Amino acid sequence: MRSVISLDDLTTADVDALTGRAVAFGAGERSSALAGRAVGVYFRKSSTRTRTSFWRAATRLGAQVITYGPDDLQLTTGETLADTARVLSGYLDALVVRTNGDIAELRELAKADIAVVNALTRFEHPTQALADIATLREEFGDLSGRHLLYIGEGNSTAAALVRAAELTPGLTFTVVTPPGYGVPDDVLADKPSGITQHHDLDALPEAVDAVYTSRWQTMGVSKADPDWLTVFTPYQVDEALLERVSHDGTIFLHDLPAVRGQEVTDGVLDGKRSRAWRQAHHKMTIAMAVLEWCVTGRDD
Ligand code: CP
Repeated sequence: MRSVISLDDLTTADVDALTGRAVAFGAGERSSALAGRAVGVYFRKSSTRTRTSFWRAATRLGAQVITYGPDDLQLTTGETLADTARVLSGYLDALVVRTNGDIAELRELAKADIAVVNALTRFEHPTQALADIATLREEFGDLSGRHLLYIGEGNSTAAALVRAAELTPGLTFTVVTPPGYGVPDDVLADKPSGITQHHDLDALPEAVDAVYTSRWQTMGVSKADPDWLTVFTPYQVDEALLERVSHDGTIFLHDLPAVRGQEVTDGVLDGKRSRAWRQAHHKMTIAMAVLEWCVTGRDD
């Protein structure tokens, strides 16, 4: 029984195995590896893609699924995480969790004999970054020598991409955010030289392979500056910005949901370079790969 709580827990080989398996599922591979198993899906926050894709992934693998909303478990009446996990581990093989808290909650749950999957915590969204790497691998194959450019807020999506890039040898990753809204320094500390962050739109790299943005407003987290939108507006990925940094084969990624007209224009999101919809599909294929990896220990 293994868990996916933080990308910091994974190795390059793990990321290679998980994303390779997701690409195979995306190409039509089938598996009934979770037949006779049961998966809990416990979401304390809104979700369209992650909750549905984990439910569908588990059922595709042959498992039965129970879903819990924010008020459904006795955690809301004071039962401890440890007691909850101890009980649920007698019924379930895996628990997929989205919470406002940090990964300490998930680590507490994982002390019981149950695989725990982080479906978004306050600072980490590991399965999103794995889906993103799977989308890039499907498009480009080997990612060594490729260049991913992220433009927007240094949020949990960006932080997860920093960690995923570190685990993807040879992938250059440039993060460009408004000043004051970058990926935290501790996330960037001790990273390879190909992973960098700056705030200068006049110094964007050229001929990158993929351009990525995400929502500027993180769910449940408001910005202190009432004029934050003015600061962010020049960082919108519009057609002109995308073409400025692209070559013929450059693709556009967005983890969705998007605020059309804010961080991205309709023309980019719906344009010929966009792989955002395929990326959303890979939320399900990576969920299949993660559940199979956690519950069965499959490594290839
Ligand atoms: N990208 C993502 O995590 O989407 P949801 O919030 O809809 O799950």
